[in-house]
Amino acid sequence: MNIFEALRQSHDIQRNLAHQLTQTSGDSPERRAIFEQLKNELFAHAVAEDRYFYIPLMMTDAGLNITRHALAEHHQMDELLEQLTETEMSNTGWLAIAKQLSDKVHHHLKEEEHGFFQQAGKILSEQQKQSLAKQYLAEYEKYQQMSKNSLV
Ligand SMILES: [Fe+2]
Ligand SMILES: [Fe+2]
Repeated sequence: MNIFEALRQSHDIQRNLAHQLTQTSGDSPERRAIFEQLKNELFAHAVAEDRYFYIPLMMTDAGLNITRHALAEHHQMDELLEQLTETEMSNTGWLAIAKQLSDKVHHHLKEEEHGFFQQAGKILSEQQKQSLAKQYLAEYEKYQQMSKNSLV
């Protein structure tokens, strides 16, 4: 497996959960469960992706701009997750923020898969693509065992 295939596995889970979240309503067990799953999925993926995809790319001149852009979007998603955590789920504004997050997630993944991955494909060597996949997966699995809230 190369790094792109490894990253895409989580992307599919994220798209699914983000969509499901926008179908929930009120302070329901379903909304709580899907939100926790999405939050932890985004967290584990972003930690591992930052460390074993973007940081190595950032060390190259050609990868600097895409890395800055992607990390800024990771930060924006984090802020939306925080807003959702701080807002009562029964609040009518909650769904509007969840939709913003879902749009942001979809936009970000599309940009990665249809833009950044192609550019990174030219920057990274074949050997790097394989070894980063292993490192990314180990880190992703490690952080999946942790809750995002445990870092705060
Ligand atoms: Fe990603
Ligand atoms: Fe990302």
